[in-house]
Amino acid sequence: MVERVGLIGHPVGHSISPQFQQAAFDALSLPIRYERWDTPEGTLEASVRRLRRAPYLGANVTVPHKQAVIELLDEVTGEAKVTGAVNCIVRRADRLNGYNTDVGGFRRALREELGISPAGKAVAVLGAGGAARGVVAALAHEQAARVLVLNRTLERATALVADLGDALRVNMEAGPLGEVTGAMLEGCSLIVNCTSVGLAGSSSEAAMPIAIEALPPGAAVVDIIANPLRTRFLRESALVGHPVMGGLSMLVHQGALAFELWTARAAPLQVMTAAAQAAMGLAAPARPEPGEST
Ligand code: ATR
Repeated sequence: MVERVGLIGHPVGHSISPQFQQAAFDALSLPIRYERWDTPEGTLEASVRRLRRAPYLGANVTVPHKQAVIELLDEVTGEAKVTGAVNCIVRRADRLNGYNTDVGGFRRALREELGISPAGKAVAVLGAGGAARGVVAALAHEQAARVLVLNRTLERATALVADLGDALRVNMEAGPLGEVTGAMLEGCSLIVNCTSVGLAGSSSEAAMPIAIEALPPGAAVVDIIANPLRTRFLRESALVGHPVMGGLSMLVHQGALAFELWTARAAPLQVMTAAAQAAMGLAAPARPEPGEST
């Protein structure tokens, strides 16, 4: 019998999880099919209910259901509780457990791709939405000394700090993203963009969350946006010599953790990375600039 796992969200057509998860199942000759389960508002409960029996192994969960899915599950892990978001469901007999593998995925990507440990360091997180919560939780687990959360809407940054500061036992501060200066970021050795500024296809694709001049010398710069592979913020940071990491690595690592939860096998990371890169190439073909020869 072919087992099934899939992506619950709306829309799901743009996701590259089906490509890199299927490549991983195939590489290990596991009879598992990864599907896109488009789940418009109002159909989440039915979509989750059917996961309680074979042939379903579980699911990934994405926008807009990461929060709402929690009350439909039997148990959620500490990371899912702290972030208030589940991105991975695993069926054990007829029970459904919820995980947040974005948190672990970010930790692994930092370690394995960027080669950086935030332990004992000051880190600036740009943004205060759901993605920022996951990153802050990961930084707390990695024992960052201080986390500065800067957001366009200051109240949201303040709320994030109030919510997570105690639960995670990490020294946190909130601030505005408007006019970030070098003085505000002084001492930060890692800057993580968790805003949607720079996202392909959005009105802010060509914008920057903060000015490059504000970056502390030598600070590593991470953008959790995976499309484009390198946002303008990352490209300009790299140009002036900062170590950088884009969002694809985190995406693949969260997928690898989900794979391991569903199958209890080590994820074939190189296969997944190659498939993700190939899928990105297909999803966003490089467009020649006007006047550029092809
Ligand atoms: P996600 O779950 O991906 O974090 P979200 O909760 O919608 O999505 O959060 C988006 C983040 O990007 C927020 O921090 C948002 O700032 P606000 O809280 O002020 O809305 C930030 N963001 C989006 N567009 C932005 C822009 N043009 N400039 C600065 N920040 C922006």
